[in-house]
Amino acid sequence: MDNLDSFWMPFTPNRAFKAKPKLLAAASGMYYTSHDNRQILDATSGLWCVNAGHGRRQITEAIQKQAAVMDFAPTFNMGHPLAFAFTEKLAGFMPFDLRRIFLTNSGSEAADTALKIALSYQRMRGQGAKTRLIGRERAYHGVGFGGISVGGIVRNRMTFGTLLTGVDHLPHTHGVPGNLFSKGEPEHGGTDLADALERIVALHDASTIAAVIVEPVAGSTGVLVPPKGYLQRLRAICDKHDILLIFDEVITGFGRLGAAFGADYFGVRPDMICMAKGITNAAVPMGAVAVSNRIYDTFMQASETPIELFHGYTYSGHPLACAAGIATLGIYEDEGLFARAASLAGYWQEAVHSLRDARHVVDIRNLGLVGGIELEPRAGAATARALEVFDRCYDKGLLIRVTGDIIALSPPLIVEKAEIDTMVATIREALQETV
Ligand SMILES: Cc1ncc(COP(=O)(O)O)c(C=O)c1O
Repeated sequence: MDNLDSFWMPFTPNRAFKAKPKLLAAASGMYYTSHDNRQILDATSGLWCVNAGHGRRQITEAIQKQAAVMDFAPTFNMGHPLAFAFTEKLAGFMPFDLRRIFLTNSGSEAADTALKIALSYQRMRGQGAKTRLIGRERAYHGVGFGGISVGGIVRNRMTFGTLLTGVDHLPHTHGVPGNLFSKGEPEHGGTDLADALERIVALHDASTIAAVIVEPVAGSTGVLVPPKGYLQRLRAICDKHDILLIFDEVITGFGRLGAAFGADYFGVRPDMICMAKGITNAAVPMGAVAVSNRIYDTFMQASETPIELFHGYTYSGHPLACAAGIATLGIYEDEGLFARAASLAGYWQEAVHSLRDARHVVDIRNLGLVGGIELEPRAGAATARALEVFDRCYDKGLLIRVTGDIIALSPPLIVEKAEIDTMVATIREALQETV
């Protein structure tokens, strides 16, 4: 590879990367093959997305077959059978009555779509003053203007102007005393943290608030598992004040927690679920928003214009993505991968927490097949230590993800116990060698 100049890489220190590139050339099962022909064990499912493991034959064949039959069909005023077949199958995976599905191409588009549906829904039902959107500190909802507005990552927001107005943020759920090294859901703080929503309601009045959006487990900012009772309490407060609750399950969806969705795992009913990533096992980009029958029916009954929602993407329901999606959902079903994740969660928990005494480790958290290992930042050089651990792991044949000074792990749901052991041993070694 001679010239790396043209590709402006996303969320990447381009100058550093291009000075020392890490290129992946092939992928199969739990492994990538690097450009220098090394096997790299994937502890991050690519980017939290290849839940069924890499290079699944059923998926690639479905894509190939569909590409030969029909490359593209519009879904504005037209349709094609696969989009309906796929959404019908996906609806069967959805919890509660979230059976109406809007298709997008990414998680960012799913988050923005859900926010727009929320605003439009409130207006459609005669509550047009409900325009305020409530996000959370340390939230990641992708990179659209809606997503970064309700999101809570300062670097993703600070250089992009004023963003959406009429947005407020709940406090994040991290750092409650007594919750360090929690196994699974932390014990402390759930009710108090959720009650912050009552304060926001008291400040703005419920009549101005359309929706609350949260990730059931915040992934991108370092695996922040909600304390016990937190999501249940958010739901109760939203019900009390007639506010929609949106779960952004771009990471927690499709078995990551050992259930189809976080909503299933926590037994909490959101009004909408955003998803992407594992929806097609990442083989073709796709995202989606599932909404309750109540929301969909309101649009169908109350719309005064023939088009009920003025929103959509050229590639909503792209035939190749739908083909990939149907094949992916088939694999999840046939191989019982969500139950498999649940059955491995205990082993995973003990393995990840065995790093408690490893060098630099100040906290560890886990749920399902997700793990977060927080490191003490190097004095005056935040993130440098984690980046060094990332590099060392990569050189040793392990792909991890780091965010800030946190290692975030999310292996494909096909992972074997021996591979979990390798991941943990490699990380321990890398931590030991890192200053
Ligand atoms: C919770 C959540 N929402 C939205 C997104 C954005 O998805 P995409 O990168 O596909 O736009 C992500 C990506 O990691 C995510 O974790």
